[in-house]
Amino acid sequence: MPQLTLLSAEYKHWLDGRVIPIVIALLPNFGNTEKEKGGETIMGPLAILVCFSCPILVLGLLAFLNKTLRKPILRQREFNARGIRGPPYKFLFGNAREIQKMKTAAAAKPMSNLSHEIRTRLEPHLATWTEAYGKNFVFWMGPEPILVVTEPELVKVVGNDAEKVYQKLESEGYIKKLFGDGLVTSRGEKWAKMRKLVNHAFQGDSLKSMVPAMVASTQVMLQRWEDHVGEEIEVFEEFSLFTAEVISRTAFGSSYFQGKLVFEGITKLLHLATKNAFNIQIPGLSCSKVYKSKDEIEAEKLEQQIRDVIIAMVTKREEMVTNGDLDSCGSDFLGLLVKARYEDDESKRISVDDVVDECKTFYLTGHETCNILLTWAMLLLSIHTDWQEEARKEVMTHFGSRTPDADGIMKLKTMTMIINEILRLYPPAFEMMRKVEKEVRLGNFLVPANTNIIISYLSLHHDPKIWGEDVHLFKPERFSEGLAKATNNVQSVHIPFGVQVILQALCGW
Ligand code: HEM
Repeated sequence: MPQLTLLSAEYKHWLDGRVIPIVIALLPNFGNTEKEKGGETIMGPLAILVCFSCPILVLGLLAFLNKTLRKPILRQREFNARGIRGPPYKFLFGNAREIQKMKTAAAAKPMSNLSHEIRTRLEPHLATWTEAYGKNFVFWMGPEPILVVTEPELVKVVGNDAEKVYQKLESEGYIKKLFGDGLVTSRGEKWAKMRKLVNHAFQGDSLKSMVPAMVASTQVMLQRWEDHVGEEIEVFEEFSLFTAEVISRTAFGSSYFQGKLVFEGITKLLHLATKNAFNIQIPGLSCSKVYKSKDEIEAEKLEQQIRDVIIAMVTKREEMVTNGDLDSCGSDFLGLLVKARYEDDESKRISVDDVVDECKTFYLTGHETCNILLTWAMLLLSIHTDWQEEARKEVMTHFGSRTPDADGIMKLKTMTMIINEILRLYPPAFEMMRKVEKEVRLGNFLVPANTNIIISYLSLHHDPKIWGEDVHLFKPERFSEGLAKATNNVQSVHIPFGVQVILQALCGW
């Protein structure tokens, strides 16, 4: 009875939705068995297949309907009973299709008068449903519920998470390919171990020592611009090159050109991840082990390309070690990671996969965020020439013709106000996701187990009830008496670096 053994072994996967591999696996086995017995070669196997597959198909269908219909409807009732409302669940895709439609419609509208009211364009679904259901509500991505939390007090609770109940989501698909199991996605002990290691590279003195490399890269960029006086410059491209150069020099001790393939690969992967963000995996039908889309195949190639370049960089660093002295492989971010590969203490030692994942994470987080911030800064200061003048005056007063240094930069008050306001209006990362695995009380709500939570920084930053009716105007003076005063001491309403205070040191604030 080899076929039955195979069937029962695979049965649980069947219920998880892996219908296709089982049927394919059964076909040849039944055929062979009949042939060996000298029996009917076509009808025999088919008849047996039909006999076996009918109950299995029925079971599979029931499991599928349970996952995509019964469970979400029961869960929706549970949410409603707990006072958490939201758009009704729709079979199979949840609200994903509505979201896609709203996003397409919003993106098709021309942006008038350079308005900073970007929330209805970037998060039209959240804006619409907040109006209808309030600041905290639930919507559906496929059969999975997503709780949106925009109440500042509740956001603070999620951020202060002393008991570690609000976990990061397990990454999969394109996100997994982008970040691997690096700091942005890892959890628990793994996160704590890597975070401790990486912190060394971002402490005060280390950061200060990076300033000359940043200044040198800035000078190269400005020199290039001088050749284009009177012409248009594509600043996003320029800052992309600049931030790539800075992160390459400060964290990886190389130039942009050495890491070019990594940056290019990450940018393409990011594009694929965004493009596929609302593609819902239908239980039982989306089986990437059997069928891969064109985008998935391309993403796999990109992941491999990025890995190869990083491993070549690691190998080069390892070759720098002389006389077994690991300190000679450098004290920058890459040096720290390479050293940790050879730690005597096994609990602190890291694998080559860890190195690759952290490098990918830093290339991505360090590059994209700063690029976006600088580009908006350029645009906003070009529009608001009064603030451009103020900023220039302040820099000239502090430095004159001297090259800026770390201590002086920390004293630039007007620049700090301007940056705070840009990060409020245009936070480069504008949403964060967490998951609760067990039932948890959040304010007045009892959140059911296995609920994903979204915190939208953009919603908080663009809420007129928090910032006033001039919320969509560029007004750095809001921050003239500091962040605490501007936010009425509710710091969870201005969170461009995320809700966890611990992150602010890492992202340079
Ligand atoms: C304008 C600049 C930046 C902004 C707005 C920003 C924003 C953020 C946000 C919102 C998070 C939290 C994500 C979450 O909790 O899910 C985060 C995490 C992180 N950022 Fe930044 N970031 C910036 C610059 C940087 C730079 C320059 C680096 C490194 C070179 C960096 C490295 C990281 C890392 C490694 C994490 C994960 C930290 C952890 O979980 O321990 N970021 N950043």
